Amino acid sequence: MQKTILSVLNNSEKPKPLPIWLMRQAGRYLPEYKEVRKQAGNFLNLCYMPELACEVTLQPIRKYAFDASILFADILLIPDALGQKVWFVEGEGPRLEPISSPDELTLDNLSQHMKPVYKTVSLLSERLPKETTLIGFAGSPWTVATYMIAGRGTPDQAPAHALKHIDIDAFQGIMDVIVEATINYLAAQVEHGAEVLQLFDSWAGSLDGDDFDRFCIAPNKAIINGLRTKGITTPIIGFPRGAKNRYVDFAVETGVQALSIDQDIALSSVITDLPDTVVSQGNLDPLCLIDGGQEMFSKIDEIIEATKDRRHIFNLGHGITQYTPPQNVSAMVNYIRSKG
Ligand code: CP3
Repeated sequence: MQKTILSVLNNSEKPKPLPIWLMRQAGRYLPEYKEVRKQAGNFLNLCYMPELACEVTLQPIRKYAFDASILFADILLIPDALGQKVWFVEGEGPRLEPISSPDELTLDNLSQHMKPVYKTVSLLSERLPKETTLIGFAGSPWTVATYMIAGRGTPDQAPAHALKHIDIDAFQGIMDVIVEATINYLAAQVEHGAEVLQLFDSWAGSLDGDDFDRFCIAPNKAIINGLRTKGITTPIIGFPRGAKNRYVDFAVETGVQALSIDQDIALSSVITDLPDTVVSQGNLDPLCLIDGGQEMFSKIDEIIEATKDRRHIFNLGHGITQYTPPQNVSAMVNYIRSKG
């Protein structure tokens, strides 16, 4: 059997039914995930325990036979590897000791620090079914920097915007360190078996005008160019969440092979101008999986119809929520596959 996600990214043919995976497909909506996380003690430990991280990555593949598996890790492992203190507060989210200068970071320990993650990638590449594509990932520099500078998630990324205004050299210095770390991190994921890479720019939506060019497009492009310069030809999916009317610019200027699209924009308004060399992905509102039923099926139909003449990877517009009943995920997958 062929790997449909890898082949939709590499070939011009449109597979039927649409290939499927979900952002955050391993996670708290699955009781079996919560069981393994308990064994690990906490979320960050779990990311650094290869056998357990491999197990939680495989759980949604066994349950739903998704066409791709995404490495179980987190975008905040990069700040942790750069020497910044990172921890997760149960029920609240990430906390970091805030930084305001690149002098507080070091690239020296990156490869040693990430060894367990690379081991997870190797285990997955041995244990995944032959038809399942293995996706590696990292956060994009702006998104990662927003957490590093604020010390936590923020609704408007104000601390990062403020540092950009107060001390652009320090801000750019932090971005440059993240770019360099991310190139090395993703290159090592590929070396250990990742077949596709996704860059998550979850907070791209708070960058407007020139800032979008400088702090979203440019650093994502620098990472992609860095990987290509190393001779890495792995397909790359970009996800500039909330990019609104800049989605197509992002895809064309960064050179991604696929563009993941959030649920707050009409899919047609993006794909009308998206070159057909770029695969589209996503757009289903994760909230419609909570109730499931006819409303979810209608939204799925809309996506299938809108993308009938182009290559598309079925996915959500953002991560699946912890309140999703697992049986609605089965219903979604069966419905899409019945349309083949
Ligand atoms: O299945 C997968 O998608 C692979 C693993 C993965 C996780 N996080 C696991 C995770 C991936 C690809 C991510 C990406 C990630 N992490 C992003 C980008 C995508 C997005 O959601 O916008 C961001 C911003 C983070 C940072 C992060 N990690 C936050 C803000 C939180 C807290 C919010 C939350 O949902 O708890 C996390 C925790 C996290 N990352 C969990 C998981 C499974 C939940 C941890 C737990 O078990 O309690």
